[in-house]
Amino acid sequence: MLVSSKELACGSLLLGRYEVGRCLGSGGMGSVYLAMDRQNRTLVALKEISPAVWAQPGIKERFKNEVTAQTGIAHQNVVRALDYISEGSIQALVVEFIDGGDLAARMGRGRLPIDEVLSILMQCAAGLKAIHASGVVHRDLKPENILLTREGQVKITDFGVAGLGRASTLTKTGTIVGTAKYVAPEFIEMGECDLRGDLYALGVIAFELISGVSPFKSGDLNGLIMERFKTTIREDLLVLAPECPRELVRIVTKMMSLSLAQRHQSAADLLVDLDQFAAQRSQPRTATPSSAIVNQSNERLNDPAGAVNYLNRMVISVAVGVAVILVAWAALTFMG
Ligand SMILES: Nc1ncnc2c1ncn2[C@@H]1O[C@H](COP(=O)(O)OP(=O)(O)OP(=O)(O)O)[C@@H](O)[C@H]1O
Ligand SMILES: [Mg+2]
Repeated sequence: MLVSSKELACGSLLLGRYEVGRCLGSGGMGSVYLAMDRQNRTLVALKEISPAVWAQPGIKERFKNEVTAQTGIAHQNVVRALDYISEGSIQALVVEFIDGGDLAARMGRGRLPIDEVLSILMQCAAGLKAIHASGVVHRDLKPENILLTREGQVKITDFGVAGLGRASTLTKTGTIVGTAKYVAPEFIEMGECDLRGDLYALGVIAFELISGVSPFKSGDLNGLIMERFKTTIREDLLVLAPECPRELVRIVTKMMSLSLAQRHQSAADLLVDLDQFAAQRSQPRTATPSSAIVNQSNERLNDPAGAVNYLNRMVISVAVGVAVILVAWAALTFMG
């Protein structure tokens, strides 16, 4: 269900400071608008909470708490909340404007190389670590809530407040189906999840980034819920992305574990795992194991062209060696 309101007309001025521009998109809470902050001469995004959502019982208190938490987080991988507008019937959060679109759009342009996937996952884990450290669980991590700068820097948005526009149960249609792809199995079973639910959601995103498809195929809510409990994530990923390094397959399988105890216990834990994998990948591949050398010589013997080149190099090396010895012998004889 996309909620939109016609309250924020293009060109209108809020708090005598924010000049409303075009609509950037709509989601479960309302619409997001580009705006110019006349005071600081910077572009900002206005996240308007639609009057229908604002009228929901208990929403104001929860929203205020979460705005406070969001304003308190200053991290390079988290969208910064800057201000809050309450003017007439308009309620809107002012956040930094991110100019590179969202991860959903990036994924729509095709599969990403493993190093880019790794960079996105590490930045998401770092952002989640900061969000969790402030006592907030995101609860709606999905590609639409992961924004990117033009330089490729990840900025997580809509934590905590993202769930305000939806019911606490998964019974609605519309955006809920989109969101349901990332909901952790414990949320389906118990209606609640802790920070490990965010790590599960990031696991689903990682699966999609690596394979180009969702681990869950069903187009309806019930099907998606049933599929959530399948135990073939590792095998599915290996089939869909055979080129993916096994260590990354292991990490993603762990992130998406059905058992809370087997999942990473914190974003910091996940970051350690990803850091180690990144370090392995960046190590220069200098030391060749002896078994590999044996295999190489066997391959040469099975490859006639390779074997001829190899023999040529051997003959040249021996000839150069003999020439050097002869010159040394001649020099010694001459001097003697
Ligand atoms: N800070 C921002 N800077 C630039 N674009 C933004 C910003 N925040 C949101 N957007 C854009 O507006 C779109 C709509 O955002 P919105 O959060 O309303 O919807 P959603 O993410 O699809 O759903 P949800 O309400 O569950 O978060 C986003 O997909 C994104 O493209
Ligand atoms: Mg959003």
